[in-house]
Amino acid sequence: MDIKRVMVIGAGQMGGGIAQVCAQSGFDVILNDISEASYERGLRVIDKNLARSVEKGRMSEEEKSAALGRITKSTDLSDAKDADIIIEAAVEKMEIKQSIFRQLDGIAPEHAILATNTSALPITEIAAVTKRPGQVIGMHFMNPVPVMKLVEIIRGLATEDGVYEAVEDMTRKLSKTPVEVNDYPGFVSNRVLMPMINEAIFTLYEGVATKEDIDEVMKLGMNHPMGPLQLADFIGLDTCLYIMEVLQEGFGDPKYRPCPLLRKYVNAGWLGKKSGRGFYVYE
Ligand code: CAA
Repeated sequence: MDIKRVMVIGAGQMGGGIAQVCAQSGFDVILNDISEASYERGLRVIDKNLARSVEKGRMSEEEKSAALGRITKSTDLSDAKDADIIIEAAVEKMEIKQSIFRQLDGIAPEHAILATNTSALPITEIAAVTKRPGQVIGMHFMNPVPVMKLVEIIRGLATEDGVYEAVEDMTRKLSKTPVEVNDYPGFVSNRVLMPMINEAIFTLYEGVATKEDIDEVMKLGMNHPMGPLQLADFIGLDTCLYIMEVLQEGFGDPKYRPCPLLRKYVNAGWLGKKSGRGFYVYE
């Protein structure tokens, strides 16, 4: 199947990034959000990122205009009628995703693929509310989307081979590297990353070292671009907590228990960079 028109649901950090890389790679993009204001906010970030690429000589002014010209605004899910693939990047709540997928299933053309950018929710459970579970798949981009090279492609229980291959092909056209993963809690990325972050939080909680020193050990000692506590702030502490809960519930194993300090910060509204405070304070 040849994918030409992409609809992205959600113009936030992830959805906006996905729309940007799709438009840059020559796909026509319908960027959908519930409000015009959210769409405009998303588009401003895309514009700023592309302007930086022009400044850095990675792209010409004409290429920037062409990329922006490939993005059309949508505040109505019924625009899915024109898409070959819909990539959902809305909030990480099963009820909301299932409701979106149920609606999309009724609107999107018969051949269309329904993909979700979920970071941990089961693809199979999302697919189950549609009449086309074979055409439902996970397409997990990493943050920041324009910079990170990986797309974790998650096969639900019923995902058809042809659908997997079409998504893999699209991922390569986005100049990203696909990795094939089966549908188990946290997939590969968050099953490995989140327990590491959670353990770093336990290390802080137990007073083993300061937050700065924990991050320094992992940056200088393991060559990670960011320390785990800084990365947790960057991802969002609420997201980290929710992923640990998905792992704990999905595997029923106490080794995935979220650190009480993580829970305390989330309860305090200290959600990381986006709220101005997490393990670190942001101006
Ligand atoms: N959007 C677009 N571009 C961005 C960006 C953003 N949000 N943040 C940084 N960049 C770009 C910068 O503009 C810069 O590009 P230039 O070449 O034009 O200078 C480049 O990235 C490098 O940025 P900086 O020099 O400012 O800083 P850096 O070298 O520290 O890199 C980083 C920033 C790429 C974010 C790096 O710190 C990093 O790789 N951090 C780890 C990121 C990571 O682990 N992501 C995965 C998170 S987990 C996830 O996403 C999955 C999940 O389900 C939770």
